[in-house]
Amino acid sequence: MRRKISTILLAAALAGPLAACGGGDGDGAGGGTDDGKITLGFSQVGAESGWRTANTKSIQDSAKQAGIDLKFSDAQQKQENQIKAIRSFIQQKVDIIAFSPVVESGWDTVLKEAKDAGIPVILTDRAVDSTDTTLYKTFIGSDFVEEGKKAGDWLVNQYTTTTDPVNIVELQGTTGSAPANDRKKGFGDVIATDPKFKIIASQTGEFTRAKGKEVMEAFLKANPDIDVLYAHNDDMGLGAIEAIEGAGKKPGTDIKIITVDAVHDGMQALADGKINFIVECSPLLGPQLMDLVQKVHAGETVEPRVITKETTFTQEQAKAVLPERQY
Ligand code: AHR
Repeated sequence: MRRKISTILLAAALAGPLAACGGGDGDGAGGGTDDGKITLGFSQVGAESGWRTANTKSIQDSAKQAGIDLKFSDAQQKQENQIKAIRSFIQQKVDIIAFSPVVESGWDTVLKEAKDAGIPVILTDRAVDSTDTTLYKTFIGSDFVEEGKKAGDWLVNQYTTTTDPVNIVELQGTTGSAPANDRKKGFGDVIATDPKFKIIASQTGEFTRAKGKEVMEAFLKANPDIDVLYAHNDDMGLGAIEAIEGAGKKPGTDIKIITVDAVHDGMQALADGKINFIVECSPLLGPQLMDLVQKVHAGETVEPRVITKETTFTQEQAKAVLPERQY
């Protein structure tokens, strides 16, 4: 009888996390099934931006195309949800785990659990700050420091003929996330070469349009002389545009705007003259990720770091490429 109860409890414990991974794209079969398919557990950050929506679609479409059984879990911006999802994937004995870490720190324990269970992990989009790099097989995604530098370089080039102060406000991404930390650093390093560039206010807008608007409204109230807005993504920039227009100013003219991502709405605002420059960050990581999943599963050696190729866009370039943009 005692044995029967513990069997029931064990079954319930295994079923619980599986149910927690809502939005699953797979057929519910765990790793170790005999359909011959690779089972990939993927923990996504959330749905905070146009970039994230395009990234999720790319991963789901590519898994389908590659014949990979995808177990997809949305963490709704919470690290604790990602940790739960990873533990659930371990219990389900998936073949590979991939995830886009919402923040950089605090992953060592759960990554060690995956390693002990013999399940390889692939980081996508965002890095972790673990010093033990054996905890994951590879990291595919952008170089966020480089993105920040590209934003800074453009700004420095715009103001070569003046010595007047340039007042910058910054909308940072999610606090503690790799793109927020690195885009701030890359940009800051470049503008530090000339003391006329001053960041007069800097706050998180959480990578969302709503928060970008709210924080920009506060920036505008507190600072009458803003020359430049640097937003760590398009969505916050788009929210800020609403705030700038609401304050009776002309975005792109009265306040120059630099953003990162190059999603469709951002590119449209760039083509319309409301944004001045966008640094591209590609969300289309799905095909490369599935390729890595297949290689890692086959026991092949993969590069420890796979950097996405990206460019930048001026207003003229945005007009030219907009019709062909995929996202
Ligand atoms: O990690 C990539 C970033 O996350 C994108 O730039 C941003 O839009 C998203 O939310």
